[in-house]
Amino acid sequence: MTPRAFAEVLGRPPTLAWRAPGRVNLIGEHTDYNGGFVLPAAIPYGVTATVAARADDLVRVASAQFPGPPAVVRLADPEPGTVPGGAAYAVGVVREMRRRGLPVAGVDIHLDGDVPQGAGLSSSAALACAVTGALDALWGLGLPVPALVDVARRAENDFVGVPCGAMDQSAALLSRAGHLLFLDTRDMTFRHIPFAPERFGLELLVIDTRAPHRLVDGAYARRRRECAEACRALGIASLRDLATDDLPAALAGLDDRIAARVRHVVTENARVLATVALLTEGADPRRVGPLLDAAHRSLRDDYEVSGTELDTAAAAAVAAGAYGARMIGGGFGGSVLALVDAARRPQIAEAVRTAAARTGLPEPRCLTVTAAPGAGPVPPEGRRG
Ligand code: GLA
Repeated sequence: MTPRAFAEVLGRPPTLAWRAPGRVNLIGEHTDYNGGFVLPAAIPYGVTATVAARADDLVRVASAQFPGPPAVVRLADPEPGTVPGGAAYAVGVVREMRRRGLPVAGVDIHLDGDVPQGAGLSSSAALACAVTGALDALWGLGLPVPALVDVARRAENDFVGVPCGAMDQSAALLSRAGHLLFLDTRDMTFRHIPFAPERFGLELLVIDTRAPHRLVDGAYARRRRECAEACRALGIASLRDLATDDLPAALAGLDDRIAARVRHVVTENARVLATVALLTEGADPRRVGPLLDAAHRSLRDDYEVSGTELDTAAAAAVAAGAYGARMIGGGFGGSVLALVDAARRPQIAEAVRTAAARTGLPEPRCLTVTAAPGAGPVPPEGRRG
């Protein structure tokens, strides 16, 4: 986003801009709404929200990716389901701030991002976090970072209708370059874990399978309900209350499907802790590879959120020399993350494309990601135009 582009679409100069990144998750999937552990990192792709206050009660949202007239709503009570596309996340943030009694007024918002869409890299959380940070700065709200995380998440939950946990917003707002974010979603405490795979000649390869990825489809919400059902049956507040040693007794009384969901969540938490232990003792990250493979099997077989495209890409990457590979994000499409030797990246990417073609699947797109900095203001001199 440039000031000139803002002015062209919205007819006036902008006041300030904030940028928030997408995320990749090394390990810890479908744990964040179960009070569990996650280990994501921000990626070097993000969304910039450029804003200017208005004197009336209109919220106008324009986007460089969806050119055309801005979406326009009145501040008073926009109804969920009435704002289409990415603008819904921005309007959801304004509405959530207003619901909290914050001094919110009319505003013009312009969005510009480069997070691959539908790839499971949290372009939507990046958008919501960029808008949250921009409006916090514009209106001088001074919200602490945990409140920014919560506003962005509630906007998604309550206005857009995606019942997501807090991983993606936390990764966008709390990440540090060269580090993973080790977050305990039970109490939202976190630690930054140094992560520099390049020192070991390694890379994180993201394989976007280009299979459609839709959290709103209902399967994600169904998994959440199944976890809640398991907690009720077990008489616990959250699946976080179970350790791997408790599993045999806990699973015995549950039906097979619910038992499998519980097994995934509990073993996934253990895999996050094992990964953190390896990385904090300075181990070669290659040793994390088998944990990634185990996470993929668990997501595929116990949690049942994988799919042909994801399974094909993960298997092809490992067969071609990746140290481990797994689907990331909500699942049912999106991307696979593979830990690879930087020198072997071209061969592995080629093997993944060949496997997809052989199976009649869309051609995957491969990109390398590094652990990037979290969200923040875009300095005026950094804005071109
Ligand atoms: C999506 C959600 C996250 C998290 C992951 C699965 O990305 O937005 O909150 O639940 O799925 O780990």
